[in-house]
Formats: sequence, structure tokens, C-alpha cells
Amino acid sequence: MLERVLSLRSRTSQVNDEEDEEDDEPKNRKNVSVAIKAAKHIARFTLLWPCLALALLLLAISLFLHYRSLICVPSIEPSYRLNLFGAVDGIDSDFGALGVPWCRSKKGLNVEWTSKDLIKGLEEFVPIYETRPIKNNVYGMGFDHSFGLWFITRWLQPDLMIESGAFKGHSTWVLRQAMPNTPILSITPRHPEKYLRKGPAYVDGNCTYFAGKDFVDFGSVNWESVLRKHGIFDRSKVLVFFDDHQNEFKRLKQALNAGFKHLVFEDNYDTGTGDHYSLRQICDQFYIRGDSLPSVHSGLSRNCLYLDSDLLAGGGHSCFQDSDEARMREKRKKFWEKAVGIDELCGEGEKWWGVQGQMRDDFNHSNKAISHAEHFTNSRFVESLLDVYWELPPVAGPSLTHQTRYDPARTSSPIVEDGRYGQFQKLGLTRLDTSVFNGYTQMVYLQISKPSS
Ligand SMILES: C[S@@+](CC[C@H](N)C(=O)[O-])C[C@H]1O[C@@H](n2cnc3c(N)ncnc32)[C@H](O)[C@@H]1O
Repeated sequence: MLERVLSLRSRTSQVNDEEDEEDDEPKNRKNVSVAIKAAKHIARFTLLWPCLALALLLLAISLFLHYRSLICVPSIEPSYRLNLFGAVDGIDSDFGALGVPWCRSKKGLNVEWTSKDLIKGLEEFVPIYETRPIKNNVYGMGFDHSFGLWFITRWLQPDLMIESGAFKGHSTWVLRQAMPNTPILSITPRHPEKYLRKGPAYVDGNCTYFAGKDFVDFGSVNWESVLRKHGIFDRSKVLVFFDDHQNEFKRLKQALNAGFKHLVFEDNYDTGTGDHYSLRQICDQFYIRGDSLPSVHSGLSRNCLYLDSDLLAGGGHSCFQDSDEARMREKRKKFWEKAVGIDELCGEGEKWWGVQGQMRDDFNHSNKAISHAEHFTNSRFVESLLDVYWELPPVAGPSLTHQTRYDPARTSSPIVEDGRYGQFQKLGLTRLDTSVFNGYTQMVYLQISKPSS
């Protein structure tokens, strides 16, 4: 795959270089002829041979400088980094340039909503978000995921909402904004009311809390009895939201066994990052082509780098130090806090899957080394369950939000693309503090069903 990138890159670089060549050639010809004329002129006089040698040297230097410009030095820094904080219109972006792994739906299904629906949703959600009770939600959800959870919930109109991991209660509040009269079950070790002593928190009046001494882990709840108590007989009408930093492979199997169909995972960490094994990590496999990936850019015409849709949406990694991926990753670390270099991505024995070959769990308190074969089997199992896999795109490009954490090269195109300042402003997004755009980690919505045997 990387060889392919290399050949694509050099092909494109030739396109760019041809333009460079046209610009540079007259200058070089002029340089060459001046050098030769000068040499001839001097040769008529006394120092013929040494000067001819000098002219040849000048000619060689001139040719060297000219041809060096034909070697494409890829400019991988996004153009908006050059204009950062300037919000320039019409700039290119490099979303997805390092690949966007995408789990495959066994039925080839996609979500019903379109980017227009997302824009309309944003218009509605921004004023709601401005009324949130917890303004400072560090360690909890920021704007992107709050919008995603609200949008998905409102679209699905569940009869019951279950959340695992509430912290101070911001996500409970988001669920409540989406469905004002629907019951919520919140599973979280520490009751959100405990946070009220120290500052803002949200406790919901129509929510049953499995917290404090009533805490039971999602995997140990007697769902038959709990759902009966809440009058729920159709489990496909339940939405389950996980923000509890547990191994998502484990949670997925527990949710399947409980008969739930609609799941949202808040922290869908990228490979090599995060404190638990995520869906995205599981589906980061060489065979993933991301055929159903809806909206990623098809290339970067302004830079030398040009990637086709295979790499753009593809998965898997190589730990080869002298590779395009390694070089790109190294550069990106200077700009994006969450970007990881090949050294961090790859553990001992070139293990890149999960986090350096580890399946992390429970806030990184419990880890298990897995083989590549096991990682591969996990992805096949996950795909045997998936009817729909949809990663929320970032709300807006970094030139608008000024976020500096997630690396756009590993995510799909944002809802409001870089350069669309007018739209960003019209949606009211300029009114929000920039810190709320820092928490994007590819929140994902899944629709699952039992594998057909
Ligand atoms: C990142 S915070 C949740 C943030 C919250 N959803 C928000 O948006 O503000 C993670 C929460 O998971 C809780 N937690 C830890 N272990 C858990 C478990 N096994 N089940 C459910 N929640 C758990 C933590 O106590 C913490 O409140």
C-alpha cells in the first residue's frame, strides 16, 4: 500500500514539477548562456582553459539547482496551518490524508441522515448548548460530541435512554434536551449530585441512577427485570450511550447479549491512542477500504501529496521507519497534540494494533496483550454484528474552531469545512469558547444485530 502511495506521490509531483519547470527554465537558460558567453569572452583573452572549467562548474551548479526543484518535497502541513487563526476562505484541507478506518456494515447500510440534516441540527443545537448548566466540562464531552449525541438521539426517538458513565451529568442533560419526556437510566459509580457540592452538575428528575451504593456495571445488570420495571418490551427502542472508558469489544458483546440494537460510543479512540480498545481500533485492519465512507476529500491537489480513496479510507499500519507514513506522522506531531509518531504507534515486535499491541480496558487500568490474529478475529466478529457504523464528523475545520488536538489527517471531513467562516458564523458557532471544540474522538453510532449463522 505504501509503495502505491509512493508511486502516486511521484506521479503527482511530476504534475506540480512541470509547472515549476516552466517557471524556472527561462531563468536557467539565461544563467547557462550568460555563463557560456562569459567563458568564451574570457577565453579569447588569456585564461581560456581555467575559465572554461569555471563556466562548466557554474553550468553544473545551475543545472543542479534547477533539477533539485523537480524533486517533490511533500508539503504535508495543511495549508490552514500556514494561515492558522486567520480563517482564510477557499483553502484546501487534509482531512483523511493518513487514512480513516471505517467498520463495514454486513448489510451495506448507512445512516438515513444527510449532511444537510446535520447542518439543520447544528442550527437548532447551538442555542440549546449555550444554556448548558455545566460550562466547564473538562474530562467530559465538548461541543462536537454533545451535538452528535443530541442529534442521534433526537433522530432515533427512543423509548428509553441508557447511559454508562455520567460524571457530573452533562451527557444526561444532553439526552434530556433531545427527549424531554423519555426516561433515562444512568449507570455511574459516583452519583452526579456529589459534584453539586463543588460546583455545577446536572441531576435529572426522570432518571433512575445506578450510582453510589446502587452502582452495578452495565455487564452485570439484570436487564430482563430492569426493562420490565420501565415497561420496555421492545429492546430495539432503547438507545445505549457508553462513555465509561471500558473495552468497547467487551461492551459490544454485553449489549448484543442484552438484545440492544442502537449504541453510541463516545470515545472511539484512534489506533495508538486512548485508554480503552475502541471500535475504530478494532476495524483498523489492512483489508478495510472504507467503501461506505461517505465524505472524505479525494486528494490534495495543492500539495505534492495525492492519495487515492484506497489509502484515504484504508486501515492498517506498517512499522517501517523509513516510510511515507512514518515521515508524515513525525511532522504532524509538531502541530496536533494527539498525533502519534510511528515510534509511539508501534510497540515491541512491531505491534501497532490497539495501543502497541495491547487491548486496553477500564481507563487503562487493565490491559491485555493480543496477537495480530486475535485483533483480526475481533474485527471479523464486530463486522458480523454491524448493520450500521457511522462516525460523527468533526463539527468544523480547525481554521474555524482553532482546535489543536485531534489530527485531521485521521478523520473524515468536517460538517462545516475549513474556510466556510460565513456558515460557521451563521450557525452561531463563533459565540462558543474555542475550548469546547477540543474533545473530538470520533464518536460512533452503531446499529447491531446477531450474526446470521
Ligand atoms: C468521561 S466520564 C463521563 C463524562 C460524561 N459522559 C460527560 O459527558 O460529562 C467517565 C465516567 O465513567 C465513570 N465510570 C467508571 N467506571 C465505570 C463503569 N464501570 N461503568 C459506568 N461508568 C463508569 C466514571 O466514574 C466517570 O464518571
